[in-house]
Formats: sequence, C-alpha cells, structure tokens
Amino acid sequence: MTEDFKQNLLCIGAGYVGGPTMAMIAYKCPHYRVTLVDINARRIDEWNSDRLPIYEPGLDEIVKAVRGKNLFFSTDIENNIREADIIFVSVNTPTKTFGVGAGMAADLQYWEKTARQILACSDSSKIVVEKSTLPVRTALAMERILNSNNRHLHFDVLSNPEFLAEGTAINDLLKPDRVLVGSRLTDSGIAARQQVVDIYANWVPMERIVTSDVWSSELSKLVSNVFLSQRISTINAISAICEKSEADVANVARAAGMDPRIGSRYLNASIGFGGSCFKKDILNLVYISKSYGLDEVADYLHSIVRINAYQKERFVENMLQAMFNTLAGKRIGIFGFAFKANTGDTRESPAIYIARRLLEEQADLVISDPKALGNARNDLADADGRVAYVEDPYQAASGCHAIAVLTEWDQYKTLDYEKIFAGMVKPAFIFDGRNIIDHQHCFDIGFNVYPIGKPPLTHLE
Ligand SMILES: NC(=O)c1ccc[n+]([C@@H]2O[C@H](COP(=O)([O-])OP(=O)(O)OC[C@H]3O[C@@H](n4cnc5c(N)ncnc54)[C@H](O)[C@@H]3O)[C@@H](O)[C@H]2O)c1
Repeated sequence: MTEDFKQNLLCIGAGYVGGPTMAMIAYKCPHYRVTLVDINARRIDEWNSDRLPIYEPGLDEIVKAVRGKNLFFSTDIENNIREADIIFVSVNTPTKTFGVGAGMAADLQYWEKTARQILACSDSSKIVVEKSTLPVRTALAMERILNSNNRHLHFDVLSNPEFLAEGTAINDLLKPDRVLVGSRLTDSGIAARQQVVDIYANWVPMERIVTSDVWSSELSKLVSNVFLSQRISTINAISAICEKSEADVANVARAAGMDPRIGSRYLNASIGFGGSCFKKDILNLVYISKSYGLDEVADYLHSIVRINAYQKERFVENMLQAMFNTLAGKRIGIFGFAFKANTGDTRESPAIYIARRLLEEQADLVISDPKALGNARNDLADADGRVAYVEDPYQAASGCHAIAVLTEWDQYKTLDYEKIFAGMVKPAFIFDGRNIIDHQHCFDIGFNVYPIGKPPLTHLE
C-alpha cells in the first residue's frame, strides 16, 4: 500500500464499466489510490489522453479532475496486482462460441485466466471483487483457483455487480438506486465485504448499500436484466398486436403504466434492445436454467430474446412491404447507429442487424450518428462500397428514398423535416423505430410515416 493512501484499489478491465466506476470511486474517495489496468494498450493510452475511449456524458470532467492524483491507467497488470489490496475484476464475459453451451453459456476462459494471473502475481492476501456480470456460482470457481496456493495467501471473493446504464452512467454512479455487495457469510467474508461497503459509504447513503450472500448477489444482476429486457419484449410483442388491430401502443403503455404495480418506465415500443448485456445475460440464465433441468424456466426466459429478434425482423419486413416490396438500389438514410442515445457503443445494436438485412435486400445505406460512426464503420467493415457514413443528418438524408430512425437521439426530434423532405426521392418514407419524431407533422409535410405499434400515416392508397 502506498503511504499516503488508505488502500490501493485495482480494477482489471478498463471498459464501459471499469472506466466510469473506478473514476467515480477515485473522485469520491481521494484517500484511495485507484488504478485501472487493461490488456488493450490502445485503450489505456486513450484513457491517458484528451480523447477518452468511451463517450459518456459527464465522464470527461470526472476523469480529468482526478487523473494523475489518485486515478491511474496502466498496462502493467502484474505489478499493480502485487500492490493492490482490493482487486475489482471488470473484464468482458462474452457468450461462448464453441463446444458445450455455444451461443448461450458465458465464456469464462478470460475470467479464469484473470484469476490465475491474480494468484501468480500476488505475494499477499487480497480481496477480489466480481464487477462483471457472471453466472451464479462463478465466485466458487474463482475461490477454488485463488485459494489453491500453498503460500498461505487467502483470497475473499465478493460479488459487487454494476447496475449502471450506458448513456446515464455518471448519474447512475453518483446516485445509485442501490449498491449490492455479496460475500461468503464467514467472518473473513463479512469483514472483506465491510471493506467494500466502506468505499461506497463515502458518497452512497447506507440505506442504499445492500449486502447479501454471494450467490444472491451474482444472481440479482442477471435477474435485474431479465426484468428490464422482459418489459421491452412485452411492449414490443404488444406493438405487433397494435399494428394489426389499429390500437396505439403509446396509449396502451400509458394506460397500463399508470398502475403503480406496473410503472411507466421501460414501456417504449421500439426496434428492440441492444447493448452488450441483455441478450448475453438472458441467454446465460437460459443456459443455467437448462443445466439445472429447469426447461420450462429456460423456455420462458428464452422467449425474451426471441421476441427481440422478431421485432427487428418485423421492422425490416414492414419497410420492405411499405416500399413496394423492393429495396434493391434504393438509398436509405439511417438516423442513429448506437444501441441507445448518449453513447457511442454499438455492441448488439439493433441497427447492426437492420443495416445488414437492408444490405441483403440490396439497398444502399447512408448512416448518420453523432457519436457512433467509428464503431459503425467497424461493425459493417465488410459492406464497404454500399454504405456511406455522414455525420450531418441533412446531408445523410439527401437523395434518400427513406429514413429509418434507429436510435432515440434527442436531436432527431427537432430536425427540420421539411428541409429533409425537400431533398429526398418521392414518395418519401420515414420508419420511426423509436417513436420519437412528430409523426403527424411529418405526414403533413408529405412523408409516409411508419411508427412502431401505431397505425401508419400514409398518402399512398
Ligand atoms: N456495459 C454496460 O453497460 C454494463 C453494465 C453492467 C455490467 N456490465 C458487465 O460488466 C462487464 C464488463 O463490461 P464492459 O461493457 O465494461 O466491457 P468492455 O469490453 O467495455 O471492457 C472490458 C475490458 O476488459 C479488458 N480485458 C479483457 N480481458 C482482460 C484481461 N485478462 N486483463 C486485463 N484486461 C482485460 C478488455 O480489453 C476491455 O477493455 C461485463 O461482464 C458486462 O456484462 C456491463
């Protein structure tokens, strides 16, 4: 431990979770020395530069306030492990792509390597904290590896899942609904848990810091993602019924959501959820359920992901049908590629699937997004020649037959759609995959408007 600081905190994995979370801890706890390490040297260079590797409102200010004081970014994983008192592990945990559980189970090879690396580099006992979202009972495997040493080193493995949402991460970290810390209910486990609670207690009210056993903590994160994604898939399934029955999904959601038992949030019909977590975590729980022989549970959970896939495909089919059953050679402006507003992250973005399907139909695409064009280029690297990337939405829409709004960026609500309409091929179409634009106004201008879960407004008969 460095003399001036109470403890050395280390986070392995400087991504969307590790970066903002540890920056907030450093910001709120000047008496802790916080270091982030990553195998990706470019990412670390970017964390040390003026242009951070991820976009998150408010993150720049926090990082710049504490970087070099008590927040450090490094590629020296081994020495930092040696010096750490508490190690948070926030590496990615992708879905397995091979062997048993391929396409569903979590791929834990990186996780196990990290555990072995911690053990190899440690010359003192430490607390290891799971920050990543993991299958329930992963802590057991980690404990077994770490405590397999004959050097009298003891490791307590805790679970402290992260509940932040990209796009609002800084606010979520500043005022978390809850911080969850799970441990073994042994004397040593509870003492270790208290050390992690003490960190958060620097700014989070005690009543929001929840402690539990380690398995419940691991499972709670997966369950939170089940509830959130299930709401989205439920309202999206209802949106399909609305389109057939001429009901309006916004009216239905409002009426249902006014019941406090249901609540109004997360009831916006859309092209479906994206992001690196929901699908991965639900499939992970599907796999776990199956492995416990709980086939009915697995089936129920799996339907959340199936509806999400269906919703994206339905959106493309609606476009195809509305545009006279052919998209070949037509130019389509994509407004938004990030998986949600206020982030540049495109992992599992519904826009990727939709763009690929439109390309299969031989459409030409012009993609616009205020923060995600770099990632979009990587995601569609194999489609070069058929896709253009243009930051300015007016320029992107010029010469297009249709616009598809795929991310709910605020700025798309207030564009001058009259100007956009004037530059488009007629008849001009808007497919609002987020229900954020003023449909009646666009229809009045002359657009044929296709929202989600609402009757289309069309000049074509
Ligand atoms: N992104 C979110 O909104 C979010 C929210 C809550 C929880 N989570 C969970 O947090 C975990 C991390 O997610 P993320 O979005 O930050 O992922 P990410 O891919 O942005 O970051 C992970 C980082 O870990 C690094 N890494 C991988 N293996 C490493 C190793 N052996 N040593 C050092 N660094 C290594 C990678 O290079 C990468 O920079 C996942 O389990 C995810 O499910 C994510």
